[in-house]
Amino acid sequence: SRQWRGVLREYADRLDVTDATPIVTLGEGGTPLIPAPALSARTGAQVYVKFEGMNPTGSFKDRGMTMAISKAVEHGAKAVICASTGNTSASAAAYAAHAGITAAVLVPEGKIAMGKLSQAIAHNGALIQVQGNFDDCLEIARALSAGYPVHLVNSVNNDRIEGQKTAAFEVVEVLQDAPDFHFLPVGNAGNYTAYSRGYREELDRGATTRLPRMFGFQASGSAPIVNGAPVLHPETIASAIRIGNPASWELALAAREATDGYFGAIDDDKILEAHRILSSEVGIFVEPASAISVAGLLERSEAGAVPAGATVVLTVTGHGLKDPQWALRGADGEDVKPTVVPVDVTEVAGVLGLEKSA
Ligand code: F0G
Repeated sequence: SRQWRGVLREYADRLDVTDATPIVTLGEGGTPLIPAPALSARTGAQVYVKFEGMNPTGSFKDRGMTMAISKAVEHGAKAVICASTGNTSASAAAYAAHAGITAAVLVPEGKIAMGKLSQAIAHNGALIQVQGNFDDCLEIARALSAGYPVHLVNSVNNDRIEGQKTAAFEVVEVLQDAPDFHFLPVGNAGNYTAYSRGYREELDRGATTRLPRMFGFQASGSAPIVNGAPVLHPETIASAIRIGNPASWELALAAREATDGYFGAIDDDKILEAHRILSSEVGIFVEPASAISVAGLLERSEAGAVPAGATVVLTVTGHGLKDPQWALRGADGEDVKPTVVPVDVTEVAGVLGLEKSA
């Protein structure tokens, strides 16, 4: 057995990497595809969870960032810039630190999760809080990269999509075919586009017999693709996907068309319910945006859109430790308060409802 070498080396023959590409890697990719019997039991489908929280900075962004930063360095960039709801900024700062270049990150003021903010700061990103939303941040980042010597590493940069398509390769390697359905969260729709491209390439080279139907989900308060119009003031507790004007909108619509796919909107209370189910019944801890994949599956299954026995892959995009506050809220919306006891065995046994062994 050997150590996983990161997606650029593992998939060098399927990406634009040459001997001239300095490979900037933290060992991203190679994440587990975890069978989820509890979700299979609830839906009658064969459900697997692709746990992208297992990447080095705790989200799928690392797959795209290894590619984007490597290519940026290949082209001589000394500084990169991105707009972010948190995960992209954490990833960009980490990979830039590894490469010895500068990352400037623009985030909506007060609107990103604490774990992500601390990552960007720890990795020495030049963090700027913008008094606006993500869409405003992206506009500024695009303008800066057009007029100043900074290289844009948002998913409008095709290198990001290229790196992220490797997740589809990994799914196919495990299942030995494409699944029938692939469910995932949608913000800018970059990842939806990346998986669609990855699965398309697998079909074209004869590794699979079909394309999965791509099912993407937005939060109801931030659902421009579902509504068919930009959302000026996007709202949702799932801060990672609080995006009103997705950058890869057109590409995502084309991918939906090509795969007989679907875009749906999910209310925040359903996202949190799915978050609890995934944590407590499957044992996987994710941030709220990721739980929308689970919520989407439960909703589509109830609607009769997922046939019994279908193979389903859910991508969960970010680790729960990035934004843990939601776990501390019970199903009733009240904060969960762990019981406090004195230093006393009998007392603890009593609280746990344990009878003394005979
Ligand atoms: N899930 C998580 C945890 C994310 O951080 C994001 C995007 C998405 C899903 C949606 O992916 O944009 O490709 O459709 N986060 C970006 C960021 C916007 O700045 O970290 P998408």
